[in-house]
Amino acid sequence: MAKLRFGIVGAGGIAHAHARALRGLADQAELVAACDAVAAAAERFGQEFGIPTYGGEDGVERLLARPDVDAVSLATPSGLHFRQAGAALRAGKHVLTEKPMAITLEQADEMIAAQAQTGRTLGCVFQQRFNPAAVIVRAAIDEGRFGRILHANAYLKWHRTQQYYDQGGWRGTWAMDGGGALMNQSVHYIDLMQWLAGGVAAVQGYTGTLNHRIETEDAGVAAVRLRSGGLGVIEGMTNNPANEYDRVEIYGTDGMAVIEGGQLARYFTRAEEVRPTEAEPRPSRNLAPQVLERWKAAHPDWKTGHPAVFQSFIGAVLERREPPVTAREGRKAVAIIVSIYRAAREGREVTVPEGRAE
Ligand SMILES: NC(=O)c1ccc[n+]([C@@H]2O[C@H](COP(=O)([O-])OP(=O)(O)OC[C@H]3O[C@@H](n4cnc5c(N)ncnc54)[C@H](O)[C@@H]3O)[C@@H](O)[C@H]2O)c1
Repeated sequence: MAKLRFGIVGAGGIAHAHARALRGLADQAELVAACDAVAAAAERFGQEFGIPTYGGEDGVERLLARPDVDAVSLATPSGLHFRQAGAALRAGKHVLTEKPMAITLEQADEMIAAQAQTGRTLGCVFQQRFNPAAVIVRAAIDEGRFGRILHANAYLKWHRTQQYYDQGGWRGTWAMDGGGALMNQSVHYIDLMQWLAGGVAAVQGYTGTLNHRIETEDAGVAAVRLRSGGLGVIEGMTNNPANEYDRVEIYGTDGMAVIEGGQLARYFTRAEEVRPTEAEPRPSRNLAPQVLERWKAAHPDWKTGHPAVFQSFIGAVLERREPPVTAREGRKAVAIIVSIYRAAREGREVTVPEGRAE
């Protein structure tokens, strides 16, 4: 099968994960070039991965002009994704964009329109969806084993220093990060929560900048009304002085699960309940270890993280099907987060827009 030839746009932190993922998929893909607005960053990256790079403001155009680049992955500040995705799609390239796909719904809609006009593939990086824990829970929900979803909660309590925000000059800014603890960090878990629960219909929220010198929030909380009719909570912050902590919880009428630190921490469904035996007279209410072990034995070659995202995106392009996280899917977390910002600003409940921006 032909290989998909990639260029990486932006050669900073996460670009390394892109390059390593492509290296690990050498039978399906090839990294041919990269670019960065900062010439020195482009050059360092090129030396590390043994590829030509384009530095400077016009680096993207020069990369897109290469006929041997079939696809680009975007590893640039979030506020640049929509413009770069549009340019790449119009240059005939397939695009895999980092999260969040865009920082406003208008930008997301422009990207969706550019994808439709060009017929190229546009996918979003949400690697948490490939975690075995998330895959197991989603499959159980799809098979009806959780019953009706009543509660879905997402918590992210991470530690970010002032130095982290000061680096690069784009983090914690409205123009380029599009938000703070919610838009940048919590977006993964908000996406997971909405993906598992079947969407968020409305939110009420508060945001605050409590312990960093940044424009955007380092803390945000929301009460949410799920599309299932259930209720939930979102809490995201980068003020944890200790360890990183993240958790997604789903409770249905017949099953529940907790994904903590990417692991399946708790899992129970009535259908799978382990009945008490003489040897084990108490019924088990946490089937996570058995369920996870069984699943891993059945999926020995399963990839996670960026390798999983790239592998599935490449498969989708080569086999001409939709990527696992389409632009419409990527838009959902953005819609929830901008609605929380609006709810916090206006002090009222905000309906999460489903289709095009209002
Ligand atoms: N999926 C994940 O787990 C994950 C993790 C970290 C970051 N991200 C996302 O990846 C993106 C980049 O984050 P990062 O932490 O790598 O940032 P970074 O600051 O380390 O790297 C961004 C790079 O883009 C370059 N750049 C800026 N403007 C450019 C332009 N116009 N053209 C080309 N290059 C340009 C910068 O010089 C820099 O080298 C963000 O959208 C972020 O949300 C995702």
